[in-house]
Amino acid sequence: MASNPKTHAAYANAASTLEELVAPLTEDEFLASQRQRKLVHLRSANNGCYSQLAGWAALRRLLAQGAYPSRREHIRVVRESEPAPTGRYLRNGKADIVRLEECLKDGFSIVLNHIEEHVPALDTLCQNLRARRQENTHVGAIVTTGAEGAFRVHYDPEDLIILQVEGRKRWHIFGPPVSDPLRGMVKPSPPPQDAPPDFDEVLEPGDFLFVPAGYWHHCQTLTGRSIHLGVFFIPPTSWNAVKTLTAELLDEPLFREPLTRVENAAQLAALEAEVKKRLIEKISAMSLRDFPAEWIRTITETKIREQQAREQKRCPPMRTSNIRVVVDENSAARPTPGSDSSGLPKRQPPSHRTGSFLDRLSLQTLIAPVPTEEFRAHHWEQTPLIVQRGNPEYYGDLFTLDDFDAAVTRSPSYVKLANAESKKNQSYKPVVQGLEAVLADMRAGGTLILDQMHKTDPKLSLLCRGLAPELGHRFQTNLYLTPPHGKGFTPHWDNHDVFILQVFGSKHWKIETTRRTLPAPSQSMSNDEGRELRGEVSAVNLQQGDLIYIPRGWVHAAECGEEPSLHITLGVTAFFFEDLFAALIKAARRRDESLNAALPLGFMRGSGDELVQRVKAALHDMSDDHFLTEVIDQYRDELVTSFDLDISGQVRDFFCPRPLTLDEIVGPRRGSVCRIHQEADSVRVNFGARSITFLGLFREALDFALNTPSYAVREVKGDLADEERLVFIERLLEEGLVMRQANGRA
Ligand SMILES: [Fe+2]
Ligand SMILES: [Fe+2]
Repeated sequence: MASNPKTHAAYANAASTLEELVAPLTEDEFLASQRQRKLVHLRSANNGCYSQLAGWAALRRLLAQGAYPSRREHIRVVRESEPAPTGRYLRNGKADIVRLEECLKDGFSIVLNHIEEHVPALDTLCQNLRARRQENTHVGAIVTTGAEGAFRVHYDPEDLIILQVEGRKRWHIFGPPVSDPLRGMVKPSPPPQDAPPDFDEVLEPGDFLFVPAGYWHHCQTLTGRSIHLGVFFIPPTSWNAVKTLTAELLDEPLFREPLTRVENAAQLAALEAEVKKRLIEKISAMSLRDFPAEWIRTITETKIREQQAREQKRCPPMRTSNIRVVVDENSAARPTPGSDSSGLPKRQPPSHRTGSFLDRLSLQTLIAPVPTEEFRAHHWEQTPLIVQRGNPEYYGDLFTLDDFDAAVTRSPSYVKLANAESKKNQSYKPVVQGLEAVLADMRAGGTLILDQMHKTDPKLSLLCRGLAPELGHRFQTNLYLTPPHGKGFTPHWDNHDVFILQVFGSKHWKIETTRRTLPAPSQSMSNDEGRELRGEVSAVNLQQGDLIYIPRGWVHAAECGEEPSLHITLGVTAFFFEDLFAALIKAARRRDESLNAALPLGFMRGSGDELVQRVKAALHDMSDDHFLTEVIDQYRDELVTSFDLDISGQVRDFFCPRPLTLDEIVGPRRGSVCRIHQEADSVRVNFGARSITFLGLFREALDFALNTPSYAVREVKGDLADEERLVFIERLLEEGLVMRQANGRA
C-alpha cells in the first residue's frame, strides 16, 4: 500500500487527497459542511478527470477482466430497489459483461461497490482519506440507463460525495435527514410521496454533490447512460467502540461461563457482581479519544491483508524463491566505488580500455559470473537476476558520462525527461528552447533519457549487434542519466525483457519478488499506472559495473541516493512463437489453397462440430515433420533480414582498395547474423537480404572463416591453393562477412 501516494497520483488530475477531492472547496469548508450536515452542489468541479477511471470503457474492462468483484455482494443489479436474479448477470459466480449490458438495456442499474480495490488511483485516494480523517472510506459506481432509478426513495447511512462521470442525472433530495443513521438500526419511514424536495437539480458530467448521511433521495437518468462515483465516509462511533470492547470480553473466561449451570443463587450473584465489576473496569479504560486511530488502524491492516490475498489469487507467484543476487566473490576485493568531495563517483575509466568489454562481448560476459546454462534455465523470461561485481571497471568505457554529454549535443531527434516527483514526462526537440528547458528540468532533479542510441552510437550499436548472432533476438538501448536524489518513474513493469548495465554512479533498485503479469509484446501498463510497490520487494544498490536482468512483467522502481547514475537499458526485441505460428499458417495457406476459404455459411449457429473437424484436419496436415522443418528453416532465413546490417568500412574499401596479402589478419564481422546451408555440391550463406553461393570445395574454408575470431589469410583451412584462399577471402571482404583487423591479431 502507498506510503506517499500524493506523489504517485495517476491519471492527470484525478484526486488523491481530500484537498484535491473537494476542490474548489477548501478542506476546512468541506469539513464544516460535513459537521453541519449541509448539502453541497458544485458545477464542473472535477472536470472529466474521473472518466478515465470510471467511464463505461474502464468499468467494462474491469468487469470483463474477471477479477471484480472479489466478493459477490459487491455487485448488485437493481431497478427501483428490486434486485435482478443473480443468474441474469453472473456466470459461474463471475460478473458477465454481455449479460450485464443486457440488464442495462432492460432498465436495470448496475451498482459496483468497493471498486477502489481494483482501481489503484481510487485505492490511493481511499488510503489517504482514511489516514487523514480516521474514517473508513470506499468507492462505488452506479451505472444506470432508462428513467427508473437504481433505488426507491432511500437514505444512505454514510456521508456521500457524488462525482458525476458520464451522462445526466436528476436528483431529488428530501429533508429533514435521519439523525445520525447507522446500518442495522430501525429505519424510520420515508417522507410522503408528494413531499416537495429540498434539492431538485440535474447533475452534469464533472459535477460534485455532497449528500450528508440520512438525507432521503431518489434519482432519475435523463438521457442514455449515466455513471456516477460515490465516495462513502464511515466515521467510527461510540457504538463501534462498545462493540470492540464487547468483542474483547470473549477472550475472558468469566464471560464464557454458562449461566444455566451455576450451582446456586449465591454463586450466580457472585458471578454477576464479578461481571459487573469487570465491565466497569473495561468501560473505565475505554477512551473515545484513542479509539478512532485504533479503529482505522485495524481496518487498514485488514485491507492490506485482503489486497495481498487478492493479488496472490490473481497472480500466483511464478517462482516462490526470492530474486537472486549474485555477488562476484573474485571481484569483491577490488576497490568499490565511493565519492570524492565533489559528490561525483571517482571513476572515469581510462581511455586505453576502449572497447575491452565489447571485444569480449557474449552472453557469458554480459551476465558473468553467472554461467549461461544457469541463466537460460532459471532466469531468461522467468526471474530477475542481480549481479554485483564489485568491479567498477567491468564495462570499461562502454558508455561514459562524456559519451552521454556528446550524445545530447550530437543532435538526437529528441531528448526525453522524466521526473516521478513532479510527474513531468516530456520529450524535447533539441532546438534552443528545448535544450534550455531540458537542462533546467535536469537541474530540478529530472532524469534525462536518450532512446534508441544504438542507432547513432557505434559502441552501443556493437553492443546490440554483438549479442544477436548468439541469442537470435534483437536488442536496443535507451540511456538514463539521473542526478543525485532523482527518480524518473513510479513503479512499473515493462513489456520486454531488459538488462540494466550500470555504467556510472549508482542507483537504488527495488523489484517486487512476485511477477504480476506476463505481458504480450503489444500490452503496456495502463490500469496500474502510478501504483506503489506491493508485497515483498527485493532491494539492491546497483554500483558501477553491476547488472540487473528484469524479465517483462516484473514491477520495479529505481532512484538515486547521494550519487548520480547513468545506466544503459539493453532491451530485448524478441521473436515469439506467435511469429513462428503466423509463418506456419502462411506457408500452409500457400500449400493448400482451401485454407483461404471463408467459414461455412451459417457457421455462427449450431454446435461448431464441423469447424472442430475442419480445424483439426488442417492442424494435422501442418504437423508433418518434413513440412514443419521446411517452414522453420524458411522462417529463420527470412528473419536474417530483420537484423541490423553493418556495412562500416565497405564504402572506404571500395574507394581505396588495398591489395590483400596472405599475411593479412582478418576475422568475421562482429554481430553478423547469417545462415549457412549445405547443398549437394555447393554451400550457401544467407546474409542481409542476399543469398551467396560458394562451390562445395570452400565448405571447410567457409566454416573456418566465419567462426575463427582472428586469422591470417594463409591459415584458412581446406584443400585450397594460396591463390584460392586470397580470392575466397577477398570475396568475403566484399560481401561484408569478414573484416580486416587493423591492429593485427586480437
Ligand atoms: Fe443512495
Ligand atoms: Fe523499466
